[in-house]
Amino acid sequence: MKIAVIGAGRTVNGIGPYIAKYFQKHDVPVVAVLGRSAASSARAAADLEPYGIRPAAYSSFTEMVSEVRPDAVAIASPTATHAAYIEHCLASGVHFLCDKPFAAPDTPDLTAWLVSVLRRAHTKGLTVVMNSQWPFVLPWYVKLCGEVKPDKVRTFAMRLSPGVSGPAMIPDSLPHALSLLYDTLGNGEIKGLTFKRQGEAHIIEYTYTTDQTRCAATITLVREPTQPRTLTFGFDGRIAARAIDPATYAMSLTCRGKSLAIPDPLELSVKDFIESLAGKHVPRIGVDHIARTTMLLQQVHDAAIRRTGDLWKN
Ligand SMILES: NC(=O)c1ccc[n+]([C@@H]2O[C@H](COP(=O)([O-])OP(=O)(O)OC[C@H]3O[C@@H](n4cnc5c(N)ncnc54)[C@H](OP(=O)(O)O)[C@@H]3O)[C@@H](O)[C@H]2O)c1
Repeated sequence: MKIAVIGAGRTVNGIGPYIAKYFQKHDVPVVAVLGRSAASSARAAADLEPYGIRPAAYSSFTEMVSEVRPDAVAIASPTATHAAYIEHCLASGVHFLCDKPFAAPDTPDLTAWLVSVLRRAHTKGLTVVMNSQWPFVLPWYVKLCGEVKPDKVRTFAMRLSPGVSGPAMIPDSLPHALSLLYDTLGNGEIKGLTFKRQGEAHIIEYTYTTDQTRCAATITLVREPTQPRTLTFGFDGRIAARAIDPATYAMSLTCRGKSLAIPDPLELSVKDFIESLAGKHVPRIGVDHIARTTMLLQQVHDAAIRRTGDLWKN
């Protein structure tokens, strides 16, 4: 099996280089990278050399696929480019892993497009996965903070720290919260959506209603231009904070004075995709998860941009 990575460099917050590193580490060679220009993709390819990756560099999807014939493609370029690359992957018959959000919430006719993408992928036998990595950490969260029962959970809170500001914070950060809720509590609806501003913090509150529970969710977004960015999440007041050792990049969760080392959830997400391609199991962040969380993201995003007043003023 071999893979090509779209957006394998990093201009703003891209995680393409890390995605490439984890494919290579798990014996899926990165044979090509695709960027906007020959020069930028050559730079991205050169930057991967320290990981033992020597991909061919392209700026045309069609050329890349016809020359290197990857089995799968990872899409890690900016969100606005996802829909077009997803279409290219479908047309070329390659499996794909697309970074969250799967598509920009302002994609024209998003629902119809999403249904059509997932249907065409199914017809062609293609594996479609979204990289939304935080659900993979839940077993460590449970070990540290205690069990999470889908019928008993009453509250969920998450603090995220996007590098962007304004309404762009929502597609950047909210997918992580939506994925944690979907993965833990199952399919749900968002009701009673409100937006608040407290100083630098944008606070989004809603009820996530499933057939088993009604969970009051509070998502706090505070712009942090530099890394490591604050990230906390938890259920029923048991809040875990992610810490990153700047020297080793090792990650841990801390909750109520206790710490637990965790693997990089991005690596777990890449491994899950590789294993699903090998037929070992269905992908954790697969079709239903993608369809439902993408629609919920659009619901929140549309409500946020309809809000006037001082919500998005700096
Ligand atoms: N899962 C997570 O935790 C996480 C964290 C951060 C970001 N992300 C996601 O990562 C994605 C990219 O983040 P970003 O917007 O900050 O990316 P970025 O750093 O601005 O760019 C990443 C890469 O995309 C390439 N690129 C830009 N436009 C392209 C195009 N039209 N075709 C092919 N390659 C293109 C850039 O190469 P050039 O030099 O050629 O422009 C660069 O190598 C977003 O979907 C974001 O949500 C996810």
